[in-house]
Amino acid sequence: MTDRSRYCIAGAFVLGAVVAFGLQSVKVHHREPASAHQLRQHQKAASKSASDSLSNIENASQKGVGAIKEGIEGCIGDTPLIKIKSLSDATGCEILAKAEFLNGAGNSPKDRVALSIIKLAEEKGLLVPNSGDTIYEGTVGSTGISLAAICRARGYKAHICMPNDMAIEKSDLLLKLGAEVERVKPAPIVDQNQFVNLARTRAREHTEGKEKHGRGLFADQFENEANWHAHFTGTGPEIYEQTGGSVDAFVSGAGTGGTISGVALFLKSKLPDVKIVLADPQGSGLFNKVKYGVMFDPKEREGTRRRHQVDTIVEGIGINRVTHNFEAGRELIDDAIRVTDQQATSMARWLVEHDGIFVGSSSAVNCVAATKLAKQLGPGHRIVTLLCDSGARHLSKFWANKDVGGAEDDVSLDKIVAS
Ligand SMILES: Cc1ncc(COP(=O)(O)O)c(C=O)c1O
Repeated sequence: MTDRSRYCIAGAFVLGAVVAFGLQSVKVHHREPASAHQLRQHQKAASKSASDSLSNIENASQKGVGAIKEGIEGCIGDTPLIKIKSLSDATGCEILAKAEFLNGAGNSPKDRVALSIIKLAEEKGLLVPNSGDTIYEGTVGSTGISLAAICRARGYKAHICMPNDMAIEKSDLLLKLGAEVERVKPAPIVDQNQFVNLARTRAREHTEGKEKHGRGLFADQFENEANWHAHFTGTGPEIYEQTGGSVDAFVSGAGTGGTISGVALFLKSKLPDVKIVLADPQGSGLFNKVKYGVMFDPKEREGTRRRHQVDTIVEGIGINRVTHNFEAGRELIDDAIRVTDQQATSMARWLVEHDGIFVGSSSAVNCVAATKLAKQLGPGHRIVTLLCDSGARHLSKFWANKDVGGAEDDVSLDKIVAS
């Protein structure tokens, strides 16, 4: 080996050593400090847990919890089932109520019905959005309010015919929702100016006339199958699911009969032993129809009736004719309980005083009947009923002059249901 070669090898060795050392030092220089490493680990863990939570949220929203709802129609249904503590404690039964006043469009169970009627008409090609098509309905208020709100959301107009003795806040609300409102004198169903008959006529006039755009559709909640169907596919299954299929009795008033029929048809198909009980206000003939097969109320006696319709302060339930929606489930109704106006008003006050629940007249009737039924059945049973609408809809009538508080309200539940 020449000297030159030796120098070359030694040089290469030194250079290699220097490069190796340099690289090592570069590597050492770039190694992460422990804290940054830990931070990365934390970030990894945090992002995993965030993605876990996201997938939890996604799962939850698929189940309907916290989901983004598709318009106001998306806020209809899936209402909470509330235990009414005061009534449950006092009777030893679990008295549960579907909070139907929390339906998001018109704030009553009629949201389900209005949406169902509109969707069915759309499927049949009877309604075209933004064409001037108008929905006509005869209603004591709740169905009209639901229809008016949903009509706005889907590009239709609403025209509501209602008796002129219903609480004024209902027609005020309808006007604010942009509906046309006709308040007419209460009349028997044989009268062509009765509010339901008038709505049918107005729909026909719209379609046949030249002066209005689009066509008129009579919603016909009393006879339309879409009514009980909404409760058969919505309210009934929700009750079944929320109670885990454990229900002894379902109690409801009937206006059109859609609620009691739809829920009865669903629940009895799953739970053949469940008791279906009608809550009927004074003046309504349905109590006797269920109990004895005859449509008659003593208040209907010649010379004793004060109003043309059902003689009660209660709005929305009680009727003196059999409708298709009531007939759909009538044979499944096991019993009926009569509720007086006095009992209903006292119960409404009781619910505010003891539970902070402020409801309208039909909800109060339901709660009286549920309490009477609990006393009949004895402790240990589970009874489901409905809270239909808020007391705010009834300030000028049912709730007029009924302030809560004071000795007058200090009555026992026994006294209320016995009054
Ligand atoms: C406030 C209220 N509750 C209950 C009902 C009764 O429901 P249904 O018509 O399904 O018998 C009505 C009916 O109009 C109502 O307006």
